[in-house]
Amino acid sequence: MAVIDVALAGRPYRVVIEEGVLARLPEAAAPFLRGYGGRRGVPFVADTNTHRNFAAGIDSALAEAGFVAEWFVVEPGEDAKTWGVLERLTDWLLGLGVTRRDHVFALGGGVVGDLVGFACAILKRGVGFVQLPTTLLAQVDSSVGGKTAINTRAGKNLIGAFHQPSLVLIDPLVLASLPAREMRAGFAEVLKYGLLGDAGFFAWLESHGNKVLAREPHALEHAIATSIAMKARIVAEDERETEDRRALLNLGHTFGHALEAETGFSDRLLHGEAVALGMVLAAGYSARRGEISSADAERAARAIAAAGLPSELSALGLGCDGAALVDHMRHDKKAEGTTLPFLLLRALGRAYVARDVDLADIAAFLDGELSA
Ligand code: GLY
Repeated sequence: MAVIDVALAGRPYRVVIEEGVLARLPEAAAPFLRGYGGRRGVPFVADTNTHRNFAAGIDSALAEAGFVAEWFVVEPGEDAKTWGVLERLTDWLLGLGVTRRDHVFALGGGVVGDLVGFACAILKRGVGFVQLPTTLLAQVDSSVGGKTAINTRAGKNLIGAFHQPSLVLIDPLVLASLPAREMRAGFAEVLKYGLLGDAGFFAWLESHGNKVLAREPHALEHAIATSIAMKARIVAEDERETEDRRALLNLGHTFGHALEAETGFSDRLLHGEAVALGMVLAAGYSARRGEISSADAERAARAIAAAGLPSELSALGLGCDGAALVDHMRHDKKAEGTTLPFLLLRALGRAYVARDVDLADIAAFLDGELSA
C-alpha cells in the first residue's frame, strides 16, 4: 500500500494505491460519503465496461455500509466527452439533488474521469469528486492533477477546467481485466516519468518493465507509486502549467498528438502508443540537436520497443510528410502564435522545455523518420 499526498496549498488531497481498495470503498472514501444514506443514493459514473466489471462489487460493498449507488453509464470511448453527454450527466446530477457538499464518483479510464471532473467543475460552480481509475493510464496520469475536459469539433480537450479531485483510490487489482494493448499504452506514461525526471526509475523500468506489464503486484505498485509521487510533486509546484514545470509531463505529447490527429484519434494508434512514439521522436530530435547522444536516444527507443510499443515512425505507414504532421502541431492547444514549446531531453531522466525550435527543422526531421 502507498499513500501519496498532492500538497496543493489549501486543497491537499490523497492518492491511495492499494490492492482491494475498491472492495472497501465505504471505509476508504468515508469522508466523501457523508451526506448520503437513507433515500439519497451515491452518484457513480462508469462506462459500460467498468460498470459490467465492477458495479456489482461496489453495490454490495456500499450496501453493507448502508449506502445505495446510483449509476450513470456512458458508452466507452472519446464519444462520451461531448457537450451532449455532459448535458445529460449534469441534468442527472441536478435531478439527484447533488449539492456543493457532495462528491461524485468516477469509475473508469481517462474519458470517464475527464467527463466527471469537468461536470463537477461547472455543476453549481464546483462539486467534489472522487477518482476511481480503472486503466493503467488513468492510474498513473489522468486521475491525478485536476485536468478535466470534453472534446469539440475543433479538437480534443479544448473545453475544460482545472478541478482537482478530493481523493484518488487506485486499486491495481482492477487492471487484471485490462486488455494487454491498453496495459502497454499506460506503461508508455510510466516510462515517461523515468525519461523526464528520474534516470534511476528509467533503468529500473528497463529491467522490470516486463513484470509491470505482467501485473506482478510488487512491480506494478512500485511503478504506479513512483509515477504518482513524481506527478504529485510536479502538480503541487505548478498546478496550472505556468512555470515550465508541469509542462514536463507533456514529454512525447506534441509529436504524439500530431500522430493521433493524423490517424484520426482512432484505435489505429492509442494515446499511450502515440506518446511512446512521440518520446522516441523527442529523444531522436534531442540527439539531432546534440543534447543527448545517439546511443541514449537509441536506448530510449529500445525500452519503448521492448514494451511492445511503437518505436518507428516509418512502420506506421502514415502516407503523409513531415509538414503535414507539423500542421497538426500548429493546432495544438500549447501552440503560441507561430511556434510551439517542445519537450526535449538534456539526458535520459532530464527533460526541459525548448522554446527555440524551428518548425521547418521539425518537418525535415520527421521527413527523415518517415522514410527511415
Ligand atoms: N497529463 C499531463 C498533465 O496532467 O499535466
